[in-house]
Amino acid sequence: MNILITGGAGFIGSNFISYILNKYPKYKVVNYDKLTYAGNLDNLRDVELNSNYRFVKGDIVDSKRVNEVIKTFGITHIVNFAAESHVDRSILGPQVFIDTNVVGTQVLLDAALKHGIKHFHHVSTDEVFGSLPLDSEEKFNEDTRYDPRSPYSASKAASDHLVRAYSETYGLPVSITNTANNFGPYQNPEKFLSRAITNLIDGKKIPMYGDGKYVRDWLYVEDHCSAIDAVLQNKKKTTYLIGGLTNDINNLEVAQKLLEIFGKDESWIKFVKDRPGHDRRYAIDWSKAKKELGWKPKHNFDTWLVRTVKWYKDNEWWWRPLKEESEKLYEKTGQK
Ligand SMILES: NC(=O)c1ccc[n+]([C@@H]2O[C@H](COP(=O)([O-])OP(=O)(O)OC[C@H]3O[C@@H](n4cnc5c(N)ncnc54)[C@H](O)[C@@H]3O)[C@@H](O)[C@H]2O)c1
Repeated sequence: MNILITGGAGFIGSNFISYILNKYPKYKVVNYDKLTYAGNLDNLRDVELNSNYRFVKGDIVDSKRVNEVIKTFGITHIVNFAAESHVDRSILGPQVFIDTNVVGTQVLLDAALKHGIKHFHHVSTDEVFGSLPLDSEEKFNEDTRYDPRSPYSASKAASDHLVRAYSETYGLPVSITNTANNFGPYQNPEKFLSRAITNLIDGKKIPMYGDGKYVRDWLYVEDHCSAIDAVLQNKKKTTYLIGGLTNDINNLEVAQKLLEIFGKDESWIKFVKDRPGHDRRYAIDWSKAKKELGWKPKHNFDTWLVRTVKWYKDNEWWWRPLKEESEKLYEKTGQK
């Protein structure tokens, strides 16, 4: 396989590149990334000398460049991670979310069609389905109606629709994964878990939006990588929901687990202004992926939370330069 991985300098994309190059010594990977504030080539230090790896700086909205790269490297498969990915930023400024997540995806789909790409995989989110009621048993599945409620999730929903439209209209071989919140190494410290961990390392409190009773499904990033790998190996071009947990856990409970790891009490939680339109609960039924792909998450939340904390403690060199910038965002949103 000659895979074009877009957004490969971001959190999940960089983990995926390392995963693929380690698992498949014959695959060639081209990482195409604009290097926005979220793109960081330091994530890829372990693979940068691998002869099967190339980095090309570029924007997915730039059709000419995308087509050039696909042609030059004889790309056969595309995995699209490139996106603006932070809900709070989408509330402050939605335009770039439409440009990258919607227009960028359409540019990639056009290029995939033009070059006869064998498989286009689109990485998406469970947030496209909106919000489930608290204390319900309901879970999202592949038939759940789309109901995005933030500019971020609306832009991802639009991109999913475009991906399916290119399959139905033009016969492009596509697949989509709608995935839970990821956690693990190389996550920008602007996101809830990595922000909480790095704050605690810095002797600062965990900022908690609203009443904290927001339920998320958490997936260790390597399990996300193995799910996408399973989709690429499988011949079926369809949609899979990918999640990590079987029981609900809310942000307050996640914070309590972190405080236990750090040996601190609940006075280390600071309640801050809520996010507008904050989705209450996400929960994922991932039984289709289990049945059709034989995939299931292997990383237990509690164990890998401890290991993730250790990673941030051991790799301050990585997140320290990003922390100040990411906290500036919360000065603007008033969530400090
Ligand atoms: N992080 C999560 O918990 C999560 C959960 C479900 C789905 N997703 C999806 O997974 C994908 C990756 O998420 P992430 O958390 O790694 O994001 P991230 O913000 O860490 O990384 C995004 C990457 O895309 C690049 N990029 C942004 N705009 C670009 C453009 N116009 N052209 C080329 N590259 C561009 C950035 O430079 C960065 O390297 C996204 O599509 C996101 O919607 C993320």
